Amino acid sequence: MFAFTFRQALFLASTLLPTATAACNRSSLLLTVDQFLLGLTMGQAGPLENIADDFVYIENNKPAVIVSGIFNNILKIDFNRTIIDLTTCSTFTEVISSTSFKPFVLGAQIHHHPTDKYNSVYKIDTIVSTTGSWFFNASQTLHYALQEAWPVISPARQDTRQFLQKAADAYLDMWHNKSAIDAVPWGTPCARLEGSVYTGKGRPDDSCKVGIPTNNTQPPNSDRRYVVDEGMGTVSVLCNFEHLGNAPDSHLFRLEGGRLRFVHTITVVGGFGWSVGR
Ligand SMILES: *[C@@H]1O[C@H](CO)[C@@H](O)[C@H](O)[C@H]1NC(C)=O
Ligand SMILES: *[C@@H]1O[C@H](CO)[C@@H](O)[C@H](O)[C@H]1NC(C)=O
Ligand SMILES: *[C@@H]1O[C@H](CO)[C@@H](O)[C@H](O)[C@H]1NC(C)=O
Ligand SMILES: *[C@@H]1O[C@H](CO)[C@@H](O)[C@H](O)[C@H]1NC(C)=O
Ligand SMILES: *[C@@H]1O[C@H](CO)[C@@H](O)[C@H](O)[C@H]1NC(C)=O
Repeated sequence: MFAFTFRQALFLASTLLPTATAACNRSSLLLTVDQFLLGLTMGQAGPLENIADDFVYIENNKPAVIVSGIFNNILKIDFNRTIIDLTTCSTFTEVISSTSFKPFVLGAQIHHHPTDKYNSVYKIDTIVSTTGSWFFNASQTLHYALQEAWPVISPARQDTRQFLQKAADAYLDMWHNKSAIDAVPWGTPCARLEGSVYTGKGRPDDSCKVGIPTNNTQPPNSDRRYVVDEGMGTVSVLCNFEHLGNAPDSHLFRLEGGRLRFVHTITVVGGFGWSVGR
C-alpha cells in the first residue's frame, strides 16, 4: 500500500515537474554518438542535432570552434567503442582511424542535459591524437584494440559506479600520492594500451603495474571529467597531465569482477621520451 502511494506521489511529481525529473534517454544518447561518428567521416559537424543553446566544444582541454578541430578532417573509422552513463547522461566514444590520409586516435565525451526534455548536448569534450603524439601509431593501436574482448558484464557481476570511479581516481592519483598505488584494484591478467604501446603479452600473469610512476610527488592529474558505465565496467576520465607539461589526456579503465582488466590511454604530447614523467 505504501509502495503504491509512493509511486503515485512520484508520478504526480513527474507530471508536475517534467523538467526536474525527466529521465536520460539512452536512444537519444546513442543517436548523438552516431551523428558524431557520421560527422567525423564527412569532415563536418553538420550531422550533429539536438545541440543546446549553451553548447561548448573542448578539444585537447581547450575551448574551440567545433568546425576548426577534428571535424576539419575526413576520417575513415576503423574502430569505435561507446560507453554510456545514464546517471550523468553522457557517453564516451573511442575512435581509431588508421587508414585516413592523416591517422587519428581520439576519445570523445558527449554530455547531455540530464533534465531537459530532449537531453540536448551541452558539451563535446575530445582528446585527439595524431602523428607525433605520445607513442602514436594508429594501426598498431588498432591491432591491439581488436585483440581485446569487452563483453557486457552481467548485472550480478557489475561493480558500482562509486567503486569504478574510485578505482580510476586511485590510478590517476599515483603520480602525486604514493599510497594510491595500493588503493588500485589491480587485476591479472591486465593489459595497458598506452598510445600504441601494449603491455599485454597474452599471458595469465600480465600486469598493469608495469611502468607505473615511481615518483609519487609529481604534480597531479587534474581537471578530471568522468563518464561511468556499470554495464561495461568502464570509466572514462579526461584530464590534464600537469607533470607532462599539462598534456591533454584520456584514460579508459575497464574492470571485471572488481579488478582492473584493461587501460587505454591517449596523451597528447609531442617531443618527449618514454622516461619523462614516469
Ligand atoms: C528517446 O529518444 C529517441 C531518439 O531521439 C526518440 O525517438 C524517443 O521518442 C525518445 N523517448 C522519449 C521517452 O523521449
Ligand atoms: C562503430 O562500431 C560498430 C560496431 O561496434 C559498427 O557497427 C559501426 O558501423 C561503427 N560505426 C562507424 C561509423 O564506423
Ligand atoms: C606502426 O606500426 C606498424 C606495425 O607495428 C609498423 O609496421 C609501422 O611502420 C608503424 N608506423 C610508423 C609510422 O611508425
Ligand atoms: C592518497 O591515496 C589514499 C588511497 O587512495 C587516500 O586514502 C589518501 O587520502 C590520499 N591522500 C591524499 C593527500 O590525497
Ligand atoms: C619527483 O617529481 C618532483 C616534481 O616534478 C621533482 O621535483 C623531483 O625531483 C622528482 N623526484 C625524483 C626522484 O625524480
